[in-house]
Formats: sequence, C-alpha cells, structure tokens
Amino acid sequence: MKIVMLGAPGAGKGTQAVNIAKEYNIPHISTGDIFRANIKNQTELGMKAKEYMDKGALVPDEITIGMLLSRIADKDCDNGFVLDGFPRTIPQAESLKKALKEQGAKIDCAVDIEVPDEDIINRMSGRRSCPNCGGTYHVTFNPPKQEGICDACGTELVQRADDKPETVLQRLKTYHEQTQPLIEFYENEGVLVTVDGTKKPSEVLEDILGALK
Ligand code: AP5
Ligand code: MG
Repeated sequence: MKIVMLGAPGAGKGTQAVNIAKEYNIPHISTGDIFRANIKNQTELGMKAKEYMDKGALVPDEITIGMLLSRIADKDCDNGFVLDGFPRTIPQAESLKKALKEQGAKIDCAVDIEVPDEDIINRMSGRRSCPNCGGTYHVTFNPPKQEGICDACGTELVQRADDKPETVLQRLKTYHEQTQPLIEFYENEGVLVTVDGTKKPSEVLEDILGALK
C-alpha cells in the first residue's frame, strides 16, 4: 500500500501516519522528521533546510525531491510506505508519480485530513514531539502516560522550533498557497479520501482505516 498524507500543518498527519504504518506494517516516512534529524546532526542538508523551516517556508524542491526518492528506493519500501509531508508542491507530486510509474506502481491513496485554520494554532502550542522515534503528543488533547516522556521509547519530549505562533501562521499561508492544490491533483488521480480531522485521534484513525479497506 502506497499512501500519501495531505493536510495543513497540525492537521494530524504525523499522528495518524504512525498508526497507519503500524496497521499495514510499512514504513512511515516524514520529510519534516528527516530534515529535523539532519538539523540535530548538523549535516549540510540540515543547515540548508533550517534556513527555510525557521521561516515557515518550504525547503526547495531541488533538495527535497532527490532526498525522498532515494529514501523510497530503500528495501523496506518494497511493500509500500506512508508519506507524511511529501509531496507538498505540484512538482514534488509529479516527480513522485514519474518515479513510481517507472516501476509500474502508483500512489494507492491520498488521505486529506481536514481541520479549520482556527483549530491549528491551539494544537501547535500544546504539541510535544519525541526527537528519537517521532511520536507526537498534545498536552491536553493527547497526553503521554507520564508527563514529558515518550510512551513508545521513554525519551524526553521536546517542543518544535517552528511551533511559535508567528511561524505557524506563516506555515499555514505556505500550505494554502503551495500545498492545497495537491488535493485537486489527487482527486484527478482518483485516489483522494477526505476525513474530518476535528474528531478525536482514535476516531480519525477509524475513518481512515475504513476508507483504505
Ligand atoms: P512537517 O514536519 O511536515 O510539518 P507540517 O506539515 O507543518 O506538519 P506538522 O508536523 O506540524 O503537523 P501534523 O499534520 O503532522 O500534525 P501532528 O500529528 O503533529 O514539516 C516541517 C517543515 O519542514 C515545513 O514547514 C517545511 O519547511 C519542511 N518540509 C517538510 N517536508 C517538506 C517538503 N516535502 N517540501 C518542502 N519542505 C518540506 O498533530 C499536531 C498536534 O495536534 C499534536 O500535538 C497532536 O497531538 C494534536 N492532534 C493530532 N490529531 C488531533 C486530533 N484529532 N484532535 C486533537 N489534537 C490532535
Ligand atoms: Mg508532522
């Protein structure tokens, strides 16, 4: 199963992608997480990406496309993957389509998680992330069992650098301008599924798994 997650920043792509990946036993690939790991390790790619991420802008396609296509060529992607945060531009979607087509494959489903902009700011200010395994929590909506500690791996949770309110507003603007057109792209491909992302995380997951079957 080859799945793409769509939705605004904070819509719950990461939260749901982890569980979908578990359900289908396929890797969860988040371009945001790959960039953040590179920033942490101070690689050249990370330093370049940070310039854009701190501003709430997209990392240029020249950097992002090659990185993602090389990741999905890895052996663990043979049975599919859940892409979280890619594609984010039409050229990214076209490159992905072309690369898969060369292997006689295609995206099976694009899941668009819909959440109004008003709800996004609240979600971001309370988000806590695991820098080790990518687990995502919220201080009130989805708290870990032990405050500040990842349920899955026991690592201390952190707040993301780009979750400041002014950066979140810019990320939303970037989303509407550059990423939202992908909804129509995947609708035209005949693989779009839309879910209401304002429900509880467990209900959103149920809706997605139901639609995938
Ligand atoms: P990325 O890491 O992908 O960030 P994003 O798209 O802005 O999305 P988020 O991770 O912020 O939100 P999410 O939808 O995963 O929500 P989450 O599950 O955490 O990208 C970061 C940056 O990297 C970009 O700005 C860009 O610069 C760069 N980048 C990445 N990919 C790129 C690409 N392809 N091209 C160019 N640049 C790229 O949930 C949010 C919060 O809400 C959490 O606290 C969660 O617990 C809570 N929550 C989740 N679901 C619910 C619910 N149903 N009800 C209540 N709370 C909920
Ligand atoms: Mg995410």
